[in-house]
Amino acid sequence: MTAVYDPFDPAFAANPYPFFKALREEDPCHQIAAADGVWLLTRYADVDAILHDRDRFSVDHRNLRRGPEQDLSYDDFPVILFRDPPEHTRWRRLLSHGLSPARIEAYRPRLAELIDERLDALDDKGEGDFVADVASQVPFQAIYELLGMPPADHDQVHAWVSDIVNLTEPVASPEVTLAIVRSRDEMRDWLQEVCAHKRAHPGDDVLSRLLTDTDPFDDDELISHVILLNVSAPEPTGSLLTYGVLALARNPEQAAELRADPSLDRNAVEEMLRYEAPLQLTGRYPLQDIELHGKTIEAGTAMVLSLASANHDQDRWGPTADELDLRRERANEHLSFARGIHTCFGSALARMHGQLTFGRMVRRFPRLELVEEPTWNSLLNRRGPTQVRITVR
Ligand code: HEM
Repeated sequence: MTAVYDPFDPAFAANPYPFFKALREEDPCHQIAAADGVWLLTRYADVDAILHDRDRFSVDHRNLRRGPEQDLSYDDFPVILFRDPPEHTRWRRLLSHGLSPARIEAYRPRLAELIDERLDALDDKGEGDFVADVASQVPFQAIYELLGMPPADHDQVHAWVSDIVNLTEPVASPEVTLAIVRSRDEMRDWLQEVCAHKRAHPGDDVLSRLLTDTDPFDDDELISHVILLNVSAPEPTGSLLTYGVLALARNPEQAAELRADPSLDRNAVEEMLRYEAPLQLTGRYPLQDIELHGKTIEAGTAMVLSLASANHDQDRWGPTADELDLRRERANEHLSFARGIHTCFGSALARMHGQLTFGRMVRRFPRLELVEEPTWNSLLNRRGPTQVRITVR
């Protein structure tokens, strides 16, 4: 196969891995002519090294000199994801005071309850669309509850977040960009009121903790980070669950192993994360000219790092890289949460969702089956199934 990168080809959306394999072998540092010369990196070793190299690679869009035109200004969305140290260091520390590992772990029983409610409903119906019934509901409700946001506004916020999440796509139409900005502005205004109320009546929740920290965020930073948490948590977590259930339905012998051995629950999540990266890519901007595989990447040119491709690199994972193996050793070295200082802040919460869902699905529903092949969205970063119809009885 000759190396091509056409993510809009339906064959690519359904199975991009043969395309990535050709790119890794033939053109591991690939310039995408159709995207204004953006570079695409596909090998595990390269992606891993770049993610760790904070001296030469920035996440700050203000360092972009060459790449797709951005209609959207990231300058007024000050968050850890788009900033280098020292801002990144301070904000990330503040966030982890609010959403601490202990607080996440304490949420485990409640999360199990939310999942059980959804699986009860699936059981009653005997069939359903896993995306609509479970994956698009549970992770959003979880972060919403953890933050302590007013229950009455749950649906409105869910709608805003569904618009704003498109911020994470490298390409957006003018209509989509407009919707992002409109929803973000409305959510900001709403959050001003919510924060004012919480300051006056703090509760035992993450938002109250963030507002009352001794070295707090300023209002603008805080609101941007609350939006970031709402946007970055639910979709990829839902995607992990959907991809995982799809993989179990397609690999009944692996589902049987998991059913028989609950000690596999944790490694199964790592392998699911490796097998299908919920976020397929991330980006960096080199701060100096970079020589790689005989090419020169000029400083400030956008670079796309394919986490999905790195996770299937035979040089790292051996000949079974394209197979699902829930017992795979060191599966947790996948790059789905990235690496280095920007490693996913919510990885423990995301993992907990998987640990509580996959075992339950196979043990409770031994007859789990796909009703039909899923339909796929045409997104670049958040590539995934839009519908996964299953029967459970
Ligand atoms: C399976 C689910 C998830 C996946 C695959 C995922 C993936 C990622 C990736 C790849 C990054 C790094 C981006 C980069 O370095 O360029 C990241 C960062 C981040 N994630 Fe997640 N994420 C998930 C769930 C969550 C959850 C549940 C939360 C919130 C509770 C969250 C919050 C964040 C935040 C705040 C950052 C920015 C970290 C930083 O810049 O220091 N994510 N995530």
